[in-house]
Amino acid sequence: MTRVRTAVLISGRGSNLMALLAASGAAAYPAEIVLVVSNIESAAGLIHARTAGIPTHVVPHDRFARREDFDAALNAVLEQAKIQLICLAGFMRILSDGFVEKWQGRLINIHPSLLPSFKGTRVHERAIESGVRISGCTVHYVTPEMDSGPPIAQAAVPVHYGDTADTLAERVLAAEHRLYPAALKLVAEGRVQLEAGSAVFADYSSSGDVLINPPDGPTIP
Ligand code: GRF
Repeated sequence: MTRVRTAVLISGRGSNLMALLAASGAAAYPAEIVLVVSNIESAAGLIHARTAGIPTHVVPHDRFARREDFDAALNAVLEQAKIQLICLAGFMRILSDGFVEKWQGRLINIHPSLLPSFKGTRVHERAIESGVRISGCTVHYVTPEMDSGPPIAQAAVPVHYGDTADTLAERVLAAEHRLYPAALKLVAEGRVQLEAGSAVFADYSSSGDVLINPPDGPTIP
């Protein structure tokens, strides 16, 4: 089996990266993480990647005057490594339209809410303030407008009475760690594709998979 050469882009802690690395450690998993790139030299996730023996690369954004120049340097690193698929996992840079268009359909992100609710930052604070009883996380294709690309997979997580942003974040993060590997599997197997701005599933069974509370619930087979 040829596995899809995948890069993970991070800026910080890298817990989703760890979940993806754990999944791709299985030879039967359809994506192989061959590169981890960060814009932050001190990102903790880089240490996890190095410990796991995965090549890493740092492209410090503050060395570039223009966003397009940073993106060009990033693109060169990805092309050099013959990357086929990119996972953003806590990558805190807005990518230029040119970069996003170039990687369209091969660039996915995880966001800690049920999109299209709560795009942007302070997600858990805003979810609690709004009074929603269910939050969750979304893996979606990246399109030029931030947090607006079509969802590939979502997981629902209850908001408990008395939750703080931190307690809700922790519950959602556990779901993220289940959801991202499942969603990457779907993309790497070609069971979902970005077509005319929509996530199109190859067969009913994959489009019908819904993840509810992944820590206890079913996963995408
Ligand atoms: C996650 O909550 C993810 O949804 C968001 O940024 C956070 C990254 O966490 N995009 P980690 O670095 O993967 O631990």
